[in-house]
Amino acid sequence: MTGNITFTMIKPSAFEAGYTGKILAMIEEGGYKIKAIRKIWLSKTMAGHFYEMHVGKPFYEELTTFMSSGPIVAAILEKENAVESFRKFIGATDPAKAEKGTIRNLYGKNLGENAVHGSDSDESAEREASFFFSFTERV
Ligand code: CMP
Repeated sequence: MTGNITFTMIKPSAFEAGYTGKILAMIEEGGYKIKAIRKIWLSKTMAGHFYEMHVGKPFYEELTTFMSSGPIVAAILEKENAVESFRKFIGATDPAKAEKGTIRNLYGKNLGENAVHGSDSDESAEREASFFFSFTERV
């Protein structure tokens, strides 16, 4: 049984470059319904909590510094089989390996500045959605 929601963030480099509108248009045209959305500038502490599963990995420090370097756009998306389909839709984590025409291929620069985040499981999607949005913001 797969869930119908996933969570995404437009990362600071893509937001700063002015890609937010284009990325959101691609997402909506891809059949994802935006259930909740917010622009927010994370503190390093908040970014650290969001990515706590990566504590101890070599890229953790760089990741949390980058994710708190400017505003992001966080959103909950709804579609059938949302997690798996959205991961395919945005392309591989490394933009250099992302399929042509995907969001990361079009708007990502490198492994860290890869334009967007996408949840990696239904459990992560629920955790990440709840990290940013209250029940009343999601209905
Ligand atoms: P994201 O989907 O936001 O989840 C964790 C992020 O860590 C990932 O996208 C990348 O931007 C970043 N990252 C940096 N280096 C690595 C790495 N070596 N392996 C995986 N993710 C990395």
